[in-house]
Amino acid sequence: MALIRTLFVSFFFLLSSILVVSAQDGDIYIECPFPEGQDVASEEKCAEYPACEWAGDLCHLRANSEAGYHVVGAPVPTPRGYKLNLRKTDPSLTMFGSDIQDLVFEVINHEDYHLQIKIYDANEDRYEVPVPLNLPEEAGTHPQYVVNTTQDGEPFSFSVSRDSSAGEGPLFSLAGALIFEDQFLQFTSSLPTEYLYGLGENTHHVFKHDFGSRETKPLFAKDQPVGDTEVNHYGVHPYYVNVNHETGTVHSVLFFNSNAMEYSTYLLSDGRPALTFRSIGGIIDLHFFLGPSLEEVNIQYSTMVGLPTFPQYWTLGFQLSRYGYTSVEEVREVRERMKAMAIPQDGQTIDIDYMVRFRDFTYNKENWTELPQLAEELHNDNIKLTLIWDPALVIDFENYPPSQRGKDADVFVKWMSEDLVPEDQEPGCESYMIGYVWPDTKTIFPDFFKPETKTWWASELEAFHTEVSYDAVWIDMNEPANFGTNLAHPWNWPPEKPDWSLKCPDNAWDSPPYPTKMVRVGGSESKRISEKTICMSANHTDGNQTYLHYDVHSLYGWSETVATFEGVEALFPGKRPVVLSRSTYPGSGRYATHWLGDNSARWDHLRNSVIGMLEFNLFGVPMVGADVCGFLEDSTMELCARWMQVGAFYPFNRNHNGKGQTPQDPAHWPEVAAISKEVLALRYKYLPYLYTLFHDAHHHGHSVVRPLFSEHLTDTDALVVDDQFMWGTGIMVAPVMEEAVTSRSVYFPAGEWYDLRTGHTVAKGPVTLDLDVPLEVIPVFARGGVIMPCQEPAINTKESRQNPFCLTVALDSNSSASGELFWDDGENVHTTEHEGTFSAEFEYADDKLKMEVFDSTAPVEGLNLETLSFFGVSSDPSGITVNGESLQSSSWKFEESVLTVTLSVPLGQNLEVILSF
Ligand code: NOJ
Repeated sequence: MALIRTLFVSFFFLLSSILVVSAQDGDIYIECPFPEGQDVASEEKCAEYPACEWAGDLCHLRANSEAGYHVVGAPVPTPRGYKLNLRKTDPSLTMFGSDIQDLVFEVINHEDYHLQIKIYDANEDRYEVPVPLNLPEEAGTHPQYVVNTTQDGEPFSFSVSRDSSAGEGPLFSLAGALIFEDQFLQFTSSLPTEYLYGLGENTHHVFKHDFGSRETKPLFAKDQPVGDTEVNHYGVHPYYVNVNHETGTVHSVLFFNSNAMEYSTYLLSDGRPALTFRSIGGIIDLHFFLGPSLEEVNIQYSTMVGLPTFPQYWTLGFQLSRYGYTSVEEVREVRERMKAMAIPQDGQTIDIDYMVRFRDFTYNKENWTELPQLAEELHNDNIKLTLIWDPALVIDFENYPPSQRGKDADVFVKWMSEDLVPEDQEPGCESYMIGYVWPDTKTIFPDFFKPETKTWWASELEAFHTEVSYDAVWIDMNEPANFGTNLAHPWNWPPEKPDWSLKCPDNAWDSPPYPTKMVRVGGSESKRISEKTICMSANHTDGNQTYLHYDVHSLYGWSETVATFEGVEALFPGKRPVVLSRSTYPGSGRYATHWLGDNSARWDHLRNSVIGMLEFNLFGVPMVGADVCGFLEDSTMELCARWMQVGAFYPFNRNHNGKGQTPQDPAHWPEVAAISKEVLALRYKYLPYLYTLFHDAHHHGHSVVRPLFSEHLTDTDALVVDDQFMWGTGIMVAPVMEEAVTSRSVYFPAGEWYDLRTGHTVAKGPVTLDLDVPLEVIPVFARGGVIMPCQEPAINTKESRQNPFCLTVALDSNSSASGELFWDDGENVHTTEHEGTFSAEFEYADDKLKMEVFDSTAPVEGLNLETLSFFGVSSDPSGITVNGESLQSSSWKFEESVLTVTLSVPLGQNLEVILSF
């Protein structure tokens, strides 16, 4: 029966997916990339690449009919789609050589909204990304997409469209020739619109990509501080979202490839926006998600890569950190300042300073002897402790047991062949690849793909916890960072020692023919692909398969994240692991929080952080934030005040400072302390709403922080706003991110908007208003139509979680609104969906507020609902009943369309409040 169904489904797909069109190649110019950069383009240079030709002032790919592939034969059905054979049309027309002559183009139907297209070598297996994806056991039966290809003998081309195609052209349309060489893949697609978002991790100065001038950005995990130019940062997310502003529909595409790559956005010669991907390995593996809304795309994508982790409640509180605390005493002093100023705090992080000579799993018995006591003191104040660990472990087997135990378990990354092991290899290091990071002697790097490594890492995490009772783990430098690769010596190499650094060989992996733009940007000193990291000529293994570092480099952070998550899970059974990772890849959100890395205390870095936060919400990593007040360079009172305000709306809200910088904890300046108190009180008040959003993210794949256009896909004004953002659908933040500014214009999309603090009506959108924004104010608005649960704030979440609840009922133009609340103990894993969980749904319509409760009421035992705030009420009610009982008129107050009702009902009971007018 199952077989018949599968066959039927594939036949159906076959019919619906192969509509043959002829290739539209025309005059499309796709620029040929030069390893040295486009500045060297000349007729002579162009002639070095047979696949390219010179056209006056541009070196571009020859026509598809010459430089590309052609279709061989008819499509062959497969259980979930079909395969089509392709052959290189003219083998002599190559870019960098080693073209794969015979390819398979495969269409794989997953869900109705999810299509996979793979292009790979017909004869030999190539590397494919080993990150697991959640793919359905059975394909959907009503696919919303159509794949068009050219037919037998024709130049190969394909496109993907929505089946209904109501006014929408192809979502993806291969433009020009496909290039598929052993170490160079390139393909270009025209896009339906310029409303393109995502692709990272890069610093983007605008959320919507710019097509005005050609921009090429590299993707390859790198220890690269936030900058102003086109550089590759810590993680890799080759994933984009494209909005069609005319049809109000959204689709997204993942290029599931982990080799060094780059992407270019530009306009084709016929004016269409285009996106070119270049990768230097693996295969072409594309996943399309058809939405059609932004939230549907988010749900579809994160369901495949892994639903985001559910943060423990305390992690939504304010966290404080710095690199460069000199002692336990200093942390205590800062803590005392925070207490004296009564600034809320839930987390304290200690950076590598606590270690003995930067050795993981040690703590310094001089200034940090009392680290265990500090942990207890913090816990007594209801503050959790996060400690940092770096992957690079020092080579000192005799005196440093973690390395010796790692060696015994055979966990370290090795050269791919014995003949690459340098002559000066450290004794006892077998064929380990040796580098240098923070510790004062050479280091080795765990291979987190190995099961043995996971076990060893978990036991080190556990052993250290018996010494210092930390609560959360920060994994840093996991690109992996290595200092001074290929240079005379690392910048922090002990001057008394003879020069040394990790030197990478000159071979296909470490000197690939097209190393991508990454070697030309970010102040690369070595100009090699191994800049600031280990060599590509290393091996990793998961026990079954061996991978080249060349292929899995950008998965190093991901693999360490999985190992750490599992280790912390074993350490705190039943609790949700709290892991903060610098390097990420699709799927990392399932395990980790991410911060945007080493920014500087600059206004434009504050501004870019909002874009980064929005992007990571597209990438399925909603628990994200930037170093509040800036990491490098000294912050100022004004910048830090404004950043504390913005940070109060980052999901991950941590003030982190760099070593040597002046203090910037919020209590350092009285003005910042006062401003922080106010804005953190607002954050803490709405944590039940934020937590509910995270529950929706964890259970369904929703994003948490959203762009303004999330609910307004045809609003071309909203589509370009990236200095404002939403929490879910209910709260809009319009921060001030410029110096000495006391007014700003704020865009309000269609609908009713209220001041979140006062409830006063601010705007009926769409409209742009100029608002006063003195230093003490960050404009925050409630969107009409949404009911948000809230709670009286407190100095930490342990206390705030016990406070009375409230509801903010912001009415839309129909005087209605709805919302929900999720509640549990804030830390345990739920083994069954409803175990230990409480949820409630709120609905306001026809002057009646209803709350319906679900699941267990145990988590809200003793908690009362005590305040209802209705925004947008037209007049003072003549009477109010709560569950049928009339309230005394002294129990409510009506002022300027805000109705505040005081009551006291258990949160665990259904509720009906009727307003009479
Ligand atoms: C680099 C990280 O990005 C930064 O946040 C940290 O403070 C330093 N490493 C020191 O551990």
